[in-house]
Amino acid sequence: MDLDLTGRTAFVSGSTQGIGHAVAAALVAEGMSVVVHGRDAGRVEDAVARLVAAAPSPAVRVHGIAADVAERTEVGRLLAELDALGPVDVLVNNVGLFGVAAFTDVADDEWHRYLEVNLMSAVRLSRHLLPPMLERGWGRVLFVGSESGVDVPANMVHYGVTKAALLALGNGLAKLTRGTAVTVNTVLGGPTWSDGVADAVEGLARQQGLDPAALRTALAAERPTSLLGRFIEPDELAGLLAYLASPRSSAVNGAALRADGGVLTTLL
Ligand SMILES: NC(=O)c1ccc[n+]([C@@H]2O[C@H](COP(=O)([O-])OP(=O)(O)OC[C@H]3O[C@@H](n4cnc5c(N)ncnc54)[C@H](OP(=O)(O)O)[C@@H]3O)[C@@H](O)[C@H]2O)c1
Repeated sequence: MDLDLTGRTAFVSGSTQGIGHAVAAALVAEGMSVVVHGRDAGRVEDAVARLVAAAPSPAVRVHGIAADVAERTEVGRLLAELDALGPVDVLVNNVGLFGVAAFTDVADDEWHRYLEVNLMSAVRLSRHLLPPMLERGWGRVLFVGSESGVDVPANMVHYGVTKAALLALGNGLAKLTRGTAVTVNTVLGGPTWSDGVADAVEGLARQQGLDPAALRTALAAERPTSLLGRFIEPDELAGLLAYLASPRSSAVNGAALRADGGVLTTLL
């Protein structure tokens, strides 16, 4: 299927690695210009170089912006730098922190950090980029959500709450698009073997003197409702996000689509 994305521009938050990078790569492969993002200028430069090397034509432009979305002022600078690069047709709100912690161990500052990175980054980016999309009459706002926002894990309550809020944000913003060709959708990911997850599992394996590959298998088995029975690969989410970014998905709006490997067991 030709996704008809050539010549459009996307911004993907948190795209130096993991799911965000896979989405950026999928969009570049479709002929989109992409702005990648992360905290560290060197890592952003590396991500840009990888995407430029993979670009299907010189007309595909790849830029990068380094900004820590945990800091409100940094987001202000990020938005100004984005504006200088020209209109954004597709916003992918991907950046997100995750980690296991007992509810009683998560202090206010950590709650605030999760809310700033996982929720407020998306609020601020959408507030800035959705109105011009509505004015132009076409655009896509996408959220990388999680099944943890629907079925909040007991050992990641702080994370699940931010992902539930992100679902609410997508639901509300979609209602602002009535009568336009702008759409707002969320993809609910499930356990995904991203760079962040791989690093966390390798760290845990080192700490406990375990074989990382065996720990990966054991952790996948800890999700008995998964129909996939393994970790999802970032590319498997990127394909759905690229489709939702495209004009082909024009009738999908205000939706929360599962790409969770079947972890969630409810009918809807
Ligand atoms: N992996 C999963 O199992 C899973 C499942 C469902 C949903 N998700 C969601 O998918 C999204 C991506 O997850 P992932 O597993 O791909 O993560 P990841 O591999 O850890 O990558 C996170 C990305 O975000 C950037 N980042 C982190 N904190 C940032 C900050 N404060 N400011 C700017 N950039 C920041 C990182 O860049 P630098 O390190 O270069 O700064 C990196 O590019 C998240 O929203 C997550 O909740 C993940």
